[in-house]
Amino acid sequence: MNVARFSRIGFILAAAGSAVGLGNIWKFPYMTGESGGGAFVLIYLLTITFIGLSLFIAEVIMGKASRNDAVSTFEELAPRNKGLWKYAGFMIFTGMLILSFYLIVIGWILKYVFLSFTTLPSSGDAAGALFGGMISSDAFTQFAFFNLAFFITIWIVTRGIKKGIERVNLILMPILILILVALFFYAMSLDGFGKALEFLFLPNWDKIDATIILKAVGHAFFTLSLGMGTIMTYAASLPKEANIAKASASVAILDTAIALIAGVVIFSFMFNAGQNPAGGPGLVFISLPTVFASFGSLGNIFAISFFVALAFAGITSAVSIIEPTVLYMTSRFKYSRFKALLILGTITYILGVMALFSNVKDYASYLTFGGKGFFDILDFTSSSILLPLGGIIISIFVGFVMQKERVYSLLKESMSKNVFNLWYYCVKYLTPVAILIVMINKIFY
Ligand code: PHE
Repeated sequence: MNVARFSRIGFILAAAGSAVGLGNIWKFPYMTGESGGGAFVLIYLLTITFIGLSLFIAEVIMGKASRNDAVSTFEELAPRNKGLWKYAGFMIFTGMLILSFYLIVIGWILKYVFLSFTTLPSSGDAAGALFGGMISSDAFTQFAFFNLAFFITIWIVTRGIKKGIERVNLILMPILILILVALFFYAMSLDGFGKALEFLFLPNWDKIDATIILKAVGHAFFTLSLGMGTIMTYAASLPKEANIAKASASVAILDTAIALIAGVVIFSFMFNAGQNPAGGPGLVFISLPTVFASFGSLGNIFAISFFVALAFAGITSAVSIIEPTVLYMTSRFKYSRFKALLILGTITYILGVMALFSNVKDYASYLTFGGKGFFDILDFTSSSILLPLGGIIISIFVGFVMQKERVYSLLKESMSKNVFNLWYYCVKYLTPVAILIVMINKIFY
């Protein structure tokens, strides 16, 4: 299978575009806020370095070695039991579950881009009522913006790796980084800046407990887009001359830097206004708009920039969530991209609409199963079960199934023998064990 190749910077931007998403700017700050700050951040950083990055490199070598869709990759690279291992590639279908609710959140963000041009809510109550009202009773607005997010994403993917995905990332990623850096410089002038740094970087060890460690580990691989073949699929288009270790480290560093910058910006604004950092998932939709409102019309500019950056981050990830299944259908069944997306898009769309209505109070009862709304079921099943499972399968495949010499031959140009041994140890033992512990705890506690 001859997939199109990214340019070198194209691959790094596309992989970073996938990694940098709602996970960085929406989830990371609110999780840090809820988990008490510095200690959570430190564990997150350690996990990215030792577990996230190793798994990332594992996905990259698999994709690069086969230059094919994820299902064929497992099948081709398995020395034995090829027919069985190809089913491991079905992890790509996790993407449809993630995308259906991810697009709903991007829809909320797009709505907030428009809202940012108007008067922002100035009290917490008003902001809470506005956001809560949209989720639980304004199905029409949510549905309209969900459709917008859906069609933008599908349109980009229809255009393919070079003209769609690479080009969009080439434009959106630099703008996103510029906006965040500009907001960061402004945040430096605020009184809340010092407090934000302290909150994020001074570990208060008494806050550390098992749940916080588990959360940090789980988030580390969600944020790097691991465990469902996304990075594997993008790596199938890796340019020949790319240095795998360097490219992977660049993406992990960029992803982490953006999460930290977003965290500093958000908490500088929050502390400046004397707000509580533990606002939960509503942090950027409820607490932050009220802070922006206190800046008058300058606040509208902050709000527009922030939500546009968030929307861009979300869209470049959304595209990467569906691409693995598209490559699978185009390469194995020779479907056109359009036909593949018609099928995959329809299923995602139906799941998304069900998830959307499961939050709307008039319909919630029809879409709640075992006490959990459909939106939460999709989120939980994918993030807490399927992605970690995918991570374990990949680490076992690279650590135990592929021959060590083969793995080494794929990496020897980009790392020394000692670094390779450290990496191999992390992939083979540390990663599957750590993920297993996280999963068991998430499911049972
Ligand atoms: N990494 C993305 C984020 O942080 C989410 C994602 C998960 C993307 C899995 C692709 C695959 O928002």
